[in-house]
Amino acid sequence: MTNKIFITRRLPTDLAQLNAVASVEVWPERQPPPYEVLLAKVKEVDGLLCLLTDRIDQQLIANSKLKVISQMAVGYDNIDVAAATAQKIPVGNTPGVLTDATADLTWALLMAAARRVVEADRFTRAGLWQTWEPDLLLGPNVAGATLGIIGFGRIGQAVARRAQGFDMRILYTSRHRLEPEVEKAFSTEFVPLETLLQESDFITIHTPGADDTHHLLSDRQFALMKPSAILINTARGSIIDQDALYRALDQKQIAAAALDVTEPEPIPMDSPLLALENLIITPHIGSASRQTRAKMADIAIANLIAGLKGDRLPHCVNPEVYG
Ligand code: GLV
Repeated sequence: MTNKIFITRRLPTDLAQLNAVASVEVWPERQPPPYEVLLAKVKEVDGLLCLLTDRIDQQLIANSKLKVISQMAVGYDNIDVAAATAQKIPVGNTPGVLTDATADLTWALLMAAARRVVEADRFTRAGLWQTWEPDLLLGPNVAGATLGIIGFGRIGQAVARRAQGFDMRILYTSRHRLEPEVEKAFSTEFVPLETLLQESDFITIHTPGADDTHHLLSDRQFALMKPSAILINTARGSIIDQDALYRALDQKQIAAAALDVTEPEPIPMDSPLLALENLIITPHIGSASRQTRAKMADIAIANLIAGLKGDRLPHCVNPEVYG
């Protein structure tokens, strides 16, 4: 019998390879399928290709006949992986291919926040540019500043590589300390989170969204930062306590922030954060280069096909299922 699969959005790649091995249904709308639709689909299909906007929880997994869950993202905090593992369902993700794109966006946000690019564009369009002024729209130097990287996996390291080109002092904190030669190669220094917060001019987050990183940055942590500090988040919104961030930015306890991720997503239009001049918000586009998104879709398809065949997924987040 032909395998059936459900894909929760149109993908930026050719589905021919998948069509050759399975009967494929693609959710055609711009908005994600409602939870009830997903719940009904997983009772009928063998494979699910989902996005980070789909809640794949215990109830959905327990009611499914899925052989594989393949997520088109590197992060998978929307999936109850423990529930999938308990049912021996492999879960795939798409690491590696989005590292550079995400590090690039991190850098774009860092530079934009430092040099007030978005604010300057608003200023110009509002007709406020009247002359060259010695003190107009000043920001800090990026070159030579101290960068603090929270989470030093693939993306954190790619951010550090870029920072070397800006002659920055690079601090990092992470669950696992790197070997001294690796630290040397990245010209980076391991420090506790508190030291990183106290000493950095720019702080950027590259750790997964998980229970132990939930609201990792809240009032106490903002109080440790320099009044000139600029915070960047291209990881997960849940890592920052947004109410505390609002207070810190509003009271100029820190200088500015740039977020590509929020909690919830999308950010509600009545969020007080949207009224702040010293905050940039982009709509979760860290991996949004054309080439990267196509590669992510291809990896998600490769994971899905492997799962349907009963082969080991090329990128599996719960290899325990293979016993
Ligand atoms: C994007 O946020 C991803 O996890 O791939």
